[in-house]
Amino acid sequence: MSIGIDKIGFYVPKEYIDIVELAQARDVDPNKFTIGIGQDKQAVPEPYQDAVTMAASSADSILTAEDKKDLGLLIVGTESSVDESKSTAAFLMDLLELPEDIRSYEIKQACFGATAGLQAAYDFVSLNPDKKALVIASDIARYGIKTPGEVTQGAGSVAMIISQNPRILKLDHKSVYMTRNVGDFWRPTFSKTAFARGKYSNEVYVEFFETLWNKYQTKYDVTADDFSTMLFHIPYTKMGTKALRTVEKSVSADKYKKLTKHYQESIKFSREIGNLYTGSLYLGLLSYLINAAQENEKVLLFSYGSGAVGELYSAEIQPGFEKMIDKNLILDEMKSRQKLSIPDYEKIYQVEYKNGTMVDPSEVDTKFYLSAIKENERLYKKLK
Ligand code: COA
Repeated sequence: MSIGIDKIGFYVPKEYIDIVELAQARDVDPNKFTIGIGQDKQAVPEPYQDAVTMAASSADSILTAEDKKDLGLLIVGTESSVDESKSTAAFLMDLLELPEDIRSYEIKQACFGATAGLQAAYDFVSLNPDKKALVIASDIARYGIKTPGEVTQGAGSVAMIISQNPRILKLDHKSVYMTRNVGDFWRPTFSKTAFARGKYSNEVYVEFFETLWNKYQTKYDVTADDFSTMLFHIPYTKMGTKALRTVEKSVSADKYKKLTKHYQESIKFSREIGNLYTGSLYLGLLSYLINAAQENEKVLLFSYGSGAVGELYSAEIQPGFEKMIDKNLILDEMKSRQKLSIPDYEKIYQVEYKNGTMVDPSEVDTKFYLSAIKENERLYKKLK
């Protein structure tokens, strides 16, 4: 049975900051941010947006009544959870008007969560071929104002429907993975912002990729020539570039040129949005599908979640995949965003809703929003 991604949806907040302006405000050479880090813009969510509202938006962009009827599993991968107990998935039941007879939960393992969800969905559909699974990655990447990680922030969500006979990406069920207890990035429960040993994280990420790529080649007796594209977890685009460079020594110049060209197509959206944490790899996939992918291409996907878990798996782009993606809608969503000044971004960043908050719906410009916090419970609404 063939199983994989049948639909892919996306949500990006409606405001962004310009990375050159951020560099100027921080008294940094803009080339460091645009070339050294590899970013151009950074999405900024409103205070009434969070992992729940963004997950609802990305899923809402693809779910039909037919899909809802067939759903058996809902998994949200996030490291920006709003509750230590209740899952982001449970909040989505009302917002998305989902039927009750589904299993739902949240997965956390830094930026690996969505891949864990995707693999669990694969297993679920294998056992329940008539059912579909909805896997959503939703995150707000926050390191703090004036920190070294500030330039690698971002926000957004990617939703995927996993089913048999997928019309976008068939998973090969060929995968290698590894886990190691590593202190490269963490966010304790008391903190709204992450702590990172950024350079160390880079080293571990590259080492995981090299280890898994060697393992994959041995296990399945393949080389880079068996794949046309390598997609990477891209919290910021320089990071994937570093992993890709490790392949250069083992392939022909022509092959490396092609892999690099395809990689450039896969990072276009990330350059414009920034870090989606667990959605980053899938934003790269979406960018590639929209900007360059060809039918029947064999692709490799490298997922990495600090702490650290890595997985490298392969997949095949399906004939007619373009018809399953609303390219114009996605490009319009990105183009129609408003630029925020750096002082305005800093103001929004510092807003923290407390118990007793009531959000005025006339000030909301997104379909799903946090409407109130009552008795410390977060309440959500959908704009009519
Ligand atoms: N023009 C062009 N490039 C420049 C430059 C300039 N004027 N100045 C610096 N650079 C380059 C550096 O050479 C470096 O490139 P390299 O990584 O290829 O060597 C890059 O810009 C970054 O410079 P660096 O001095 O390392 O920056 P930094 O100390 O500010 O740290 C990060 C950068 C990415 C480590 C930091 O932003 C961070 O910690 N982010 C969080 C990342 C993280 O942990 N994510 C989790 C990932 S899973």
